[in-house]
Amino acid sequence: MSKRILVTSALPYANGPIHLGHLAGAYLPADLYTRFQRLKGKDIIHICGSDEHGVPITIAAEKEGVTPWEIIERYHTGNKKVFERFGIDFDFYGRTSSETHKKTSQEIFLKLHEQGVFTKKVQEQLYDEQAAMFLPDRYVKGTCPACGHPEAFGDQCEKCGSSLSPTDLIDPVSAITGNKPIIKETEHWFIPLGDFQSRLTEWIEGKKDWKTNVIGQCKSWLDAGLGDRAVTRDLNWGVPVPLSEGEGKVLYVWFDAPIGYISATKEWAQEKGEPELWKKYWQDKETSLIHFIGKDNIVFHCIMFPATLMQHGDYILPENVPANEFLNLEGRKLSTSKGWAVWLDEYLDEFEPDLLRYALGTILPESKDSDFSWKDFQARVNSELADILGNFIFRTISFTDRFFDGTIPELNNPSELDLNTLNEIEAQKKKIEQSYQSFRFREAIAETMHLARIGNRYFTETEPWKTRKENPQLCGNTLHVCLQISAALSSLFEPILPNKMAQLRKQLGLNQPVQWDLITSNLLKSGGNILQGEILFEKIEDEVVDNQINKLKERSDELDTATKVYQPLKKEINFDDFAALDIRAGKILAAEKLKKSKKLLKITVDLGFETRTILSGIAEFFSPDDIIGKSVCVVANLAPKKMMGIESNGMILMGEDSSGKLHFLTTTAEPGSPIN
Ligand code: 2FM
Ligand code: ZN
Repeated sequence: MSKRILVTSALPYANGPIHLGHLAGAYLPADLYTRFQRLKGKDIIHICGSDEHGVPITIAAEKEGVTPWEIIERYHTGNKKVFERFGIDFDFYGRTSSETHKKTSQEIFLKLHEQGVFTKKVQEQLYDEQAAMFLPDRYVKGTCPACGHPEAFGDQCEKCGSSLSPTDLIDPVSAITGNKPIIKETEHWFIPLGDFQSRLTEWIEGKKDWKTNVIGQCKSWLDAGLGDRAVTRDLNWGVPVPLSEGEGKVLYVWFDAPIGYISATKEWAQEKGEPELWKKYWQDKETSLIHFIGKDNIVFHCIMFPATLMQHGDYILPENVPANEFLNLEGRKLSTSKGWAVWLDEYLDEFEPDLLRYALGTILPESKDSDFSWKDFQARVNSELADILGNFIFRTISFTDRFFDGTIPELNNPSELDLNTLNEIEAQKKKIEQSYQSFRFREAIAETMHLARIGNRYFTETEPWKTRKENPQLCGNTLHVCLQISAALSSLFEPILPNKMAQLRKQLGLNQPVQWDLITSNLLKSGGNILQGEILFEKIEDEVVDNQINKLKERSDELDTATKVYQPLKKEINFDDFAALDIRAGKILAAEKLKKSKKLLKITVDLGFETRTILSGIAEFFSPDDIIGKSVCVVANLAPKKMMGIESNGMILMGEDSSGKLHFLTTTAEPGSPIN
């Protein structure tokens, strides 16, 4: 086990505000991990900052007709603040426009140059004659040679994800003037990544615990064979190439940005008054370096930056790069230019940070792309935070307050159930720890919530409202156990819900979160006092999330099919498989809600030749009165299935739109007619 951990999360470009996609990709998982490791007592720092160079910045400035400085000032300050409001607990939030960064990246470039690593080559590049400049990366648009997308950028096609060079594009045009560029020669420094092929392959092959999505991408780069990669650009914005300062050449942003992690750590050490301290985190083999990033950054963190560090020789290499996949929004790809995004500052103006930390944490795109929807956010808050965790805490504390005068009862002659339930604290803690240690944050969150679920179930089963009168000692035991679970939860949930857990600890008379290894089933002393506080989680009304969905839709009036995310097609079936389905027209005669289920409606359907009972999971979208009389399509030969004690005989076909809303497939054919 390493002595210390250095966590970095991808430096966001200071060219726009932070949105949910950013959070789900890197910052929330990095923060969960850091907070957990801090509770474990690890020496850990979390470093981040603004990426203030490169074409994304200059293009944003040109679009607005302002200087790049204005852009980076605005977004560096704004993004730093919004991360703080959301509770992302960076130890240092630097910026790549700093002097320390310029010096550090130039030193590293020069050292590699002195080692004779770079080759200097004349290259043919696209040039805009009217703007009198070369067109690197996103300064050129055109048709993707891989998929035919007409709006691909010079560095990447956002439709198929191919990594491109400007000269790969078909029919390229300048993003500045719209003119057709000419080809002109220019000289650049290249790092011959091919020379690192075997060292990188061996290093990555040793990474048995890396995520499969990360290893997969690395392998496909390595299998394709690494070539020379330019580390400089013709631009007047960036870190000047030290050997040719003043000639309009700067370091490629992907050469200098990861070095930003090092320069920010130096600045952190300076601020602490121990300027040499950064070396412990970057140059000591006892440090584990973990990069949290999104999947579009994998090649830079697993191939390019490690090659630079390997060559330099003084630095450690990342121990893990737990990159996440992408977050979609309401069934569509996030698109900032099309307004299809939820901005963090806007979210925080209306909701509390912990609600999103939880809801987003439960759907992090850890192994595949995932989808954020406002309805799911509402369901997570209402049915999990409020109904499970909030309800458990509320009933425990208010019961103790009312019937035990706010005093923690003793555990006297506990039953097997009492002891087993207390043991669940230790058992869940172990599972949660394992999940955090292996970067499975969704699982860590689910297991933490599971302890609250266990507590709730135990409270219901032991019926303290009855034992209070019949056998007060049993009642006291129930409350003792529930209070101990609440106390454990107030630390176990700390990485996810830091604000809410501070509020809970106040109610329980605990000051700080308890160190992870000291979380036991005996955190509270019998006889101690608790305080009835404010309710932890209020439910979110339908109207509130409907407003958010409408806001999103109004803002993005130019949505096109390129942003829509479709579910992957299921495995091909043959005609006989299809013909085996017996779909019939049916008429809904009656419908009623099931008391025990939020989702199911019990529906009576006339199929002409008989009447059926069908249970359908549509109760969240339709009330019984809305659907009586509808002529629908029914899969009539589906095997019966029992749910909530009722047998369902068939399935009513529904279409699901991108916001998850369901729509009936209706027919004018009379009941019993076959649908082919
Ligand atoms: O993709 C991005 O937003 C980049 N600005 C990430 C840089 S990560 C690191 F290398 F700095
Ligand atoms: Zn493409």
